[in-house]
Amino acid sequence: MSGRVHLVGAGPGAADLLTLRAAGLLAAADVVLHDRLVGPDVLAFCRADAELVDVSKRPGAESAAQEEINRVLIERARAGLDVVRLKGGDPFIFGRGGEEARALQAAGIPFDVVPGLSSALAAPAAAGVSLTHRELARSVTIITGHLQALEEHGWDALAATDTLVVLMGAATVGEMAQRLMAGGRAADTPAVVVQEATLPGQQEVAAPLGELADAVAEAGLRAPLVVVVGAVAAIDLYRPLALETRR
Ligand SMILES: C[S@@+](CC[C@H](N)C(=O)[O-])C[C@H]1O[C@@H](n2cnc3c(N)ncnc32)[C@H](O)[C@@H]1O
Repeated sequence: MSGRVHLVGAGPGAADLLTLRAAGLLAAADVVLHDRLVGPDVLAFCRADAELVDVSKRPGAESAAQEEINRVLIERARAGLDVVRLKGGDPFIFGRGGEEARALQAAGIPFDVVPGLSSALAAPAAAGVSLTHRELARSVTIITGHLQALEEHGWDALAATDTLVVLMGAATVGEMAQRLMAGGRAADTPAVVVQEATLPGQQEVAAPLGELADAVAEAGLRAPLVVVVGAVAAIDLYRPLALETRR
């Protein structure tokens, strides 16, 4: 009889932001395939005798790696094992969870999806930034920082959303800010960048859009980071209290 695959979100990083369901499934799994961004505190929930497979994608070899991941998921499940595919954040936010779900469905493997707390929501909240706020923001767009994807989405549309949340934007933050301004966002639009949200290395930098790239470089922020652009990113609205609470 075939085993089962659980596509599980691990949350943004802090182990105590894992859901109870995710923790229970990790404790029961025979095999856990996990990404690089899933840290040791989260993997500590796994059984001592579980097979742990790091399936981090290597730059330039993404599609081959994805096929390999699908193959291992299917093979282990067909061997009758209980398999967790553990992904950072939520499996269905820039996590390729949909592709894996499709591959499992095509192979006739039973699977379920366990939502996780996406960094798109957790990073702003952990920095004290409310993505929506009455009178300031009624719409939120979550997007990848890959310039081609942004291009295809349309810079005008991006400039029009109240709050913009950008994942995977560490390498493109300067270009992205320039293009958003060319698309209609004012240079003084507030922006915040949150690095390693919910983890000990969490750091935030706030700057107007026109100065964002310099501020990020000066602070030495690196991936993983989330960029928030919009009126709500004027974090002096929220930040003092959030930081005080964290201390
Ligand atoms: C491949 S995407 C996966 C997103 C994930 N599925 C989610 O819902 O959070 C990886 C990106 O998520 C963001 N990210 C993930 N964890 C983060 C964290 N703890 N702090 C800041 N950004 C994070 C970064 O933008 C990173 O480049």
